[in-house]
Amino acid sequence: MDKISVAAARQAEAIGRQVTLQGWIRTRRDSKGGFSFLELNDGSSQGNIQVIADASLANYESEIKHLSAACSVTVRGEVKPSGGKGQATEVLASEVIVHGWADAENYPLQKKQHSFEKLREWAHLRPRTNTFGAIARVRNCVSRSIHNFFQEEGFLYIHTPIITASDCEGAGAMFRVSTIDPAKPPLKEGQIDYTQDFFGRPAYLTVSGQLNAEIFACALGKVYTFGPTFRAENSNTSRHLAEFWMIEPEMAFYELTDNMDLAERFLKRVFRDALDQCGEDMQFFNDRIDDTVISTLDAIITSSFERVSYTDAIDILAKSGRKFEFPVAWGTDLQAEHERFLTEEHFKRPVVLYNYPRSIKPFYMRVNDDEKTVRAMDVLVPKVGEIIGGSQREERLDVLQTRMDEQHLKAADYWWYTELRRYGTVPHSGFGLGLERVIQFITGMQNIRDVIPFPRTPGNAEF
Ligand code: 4AD
Ligand code: MG
Repeated sequence: MDKISVAAARQAEAIGRQVTLQGWIRTRRDSKGGFSFLELNDGSSQGNIQVIADASLANYESEIKHLSAACSVTVRGEVKPSGGKGQATEVLASEVIVHGWADAENYPLQKKQHSFEKLREWAHLRPRTNTFGAIARVRNCVSRSIHNFFQEEGFLYIHTPIITASDCEGAGAMFRVSTIDPAKPPLKEGQIDYTQDFFGRPAYLTVSGQLNAEIFACALGKVYTFGPTFRAENSNTSRHLAEFWMIEPEMAFYELTDNMDLAERFLKRVFRDALDQCGEDMQFFNDRIDDTVISTLDAIITSSFERVSYTDAIDILAKSGRKFEFPVAWGTDLQAEHERFLTEEHFKRPVVLYNYPRSIKPFYMRVNDDEKTVRAMDVLVPKVGEIIGGSQREERLDVLQTRMDEQHLKAADYWWYTELRRYGTVPHSGFGLGLERVIQFITGMQNIRDVIPFPRTPGNAEF
């Protein structure tokens, strides 16, 4: 009796095998003919396998006839061809062992469909639903695809720190990491004395691994990080989390166009792998969540992204005749409504926006010859908006110092960053892809809180 997954038992090749399956009951149906149909799922695939339990089994009356959703079981039996629609196989049980009962009266997922809002309150149970099982499998597939892509391209995976002293994005939205007792902090001239804190200085959870990745790119060429990042901004939107996962490649000798080429190739590869490797789950999202997800991904894979400068984008928005909530003017940051107009309505495809005004972008972005713009790039996709933010980095020491002054950053805090420009500086570039935003885009899920196992947002960190 081989122990195999439900996914394997559902394949026609399994017919004739004696197998052991282990998982959870989804439904039980009793037939008049003196046997029961059990729908069994073990997480290996979207679909269940149908188990036929005959009344001749020793525990048929005492146990099998009482099975309900969520009960955990081991089933032994033979895989048979199935006469049923939409399934190649079924299992004729020779033994059904019950491990755990689930009181059908009280089990919250027993009956009706629950809203995604409700399921967020049950983060411990929602992985048992079809939707959240499918999301977990797609998220796993995307993570594997990301590593495969960079490994095949010769990038080194660098583990950048989670605790840091520097604010990469300069937005000041950082969570403090401290062991100081808030009830009696050490004071110096009326202020908390962080020299007495654990790290001897103020420390935070990282908002980005970029600055550390640059250190390694400037020594080893092409690197990437893939880890959790944290933002303490109070954004209660369907696209923001306080804790999210970011993939950040950083490449020496890459200019902005090389960076755009890499980003486009990378996203297409991830989309193609999701379609190829998660067919059943993608069909589920297409049927149940958003009936455009498959055709959208298919179209993107075979066409090219639109590349537009910020200045041209402002022009397009200004001439669109559209009334936006936030007015459009050169020098202001684009809002979600502007980004979505460009990618969803105007170009109807992913858009790479580049060369943003220097005043609205971080200190590390390379200044263009016009002195007004920097070599930034954002990748926008329909429905989600920005999924990638990146840039060519400022590799000229004097310009970098000017930019740091401009943004009131203390040179002493970034001395190691500026030394990279002092010793063998190189043109280099990189970007950050938000993992949850890409999963949202692939699955069509509307709220980012539903594509991460345990969402962290303002006021929410229970599970
Ligand atoms: O545009 P961001 O802030 O760029 C950086 O952090 C750069 N240091 C990256 C780099 O060049 N290495 O963030 C990058 C991406 C965004 O495009 C978005 O997809 C995602 O990270 N992101 C968020 N995802 C979920 N919740 C949030 N609060 C996010 N903030 C950014
Ligand atoms: Mg950004």
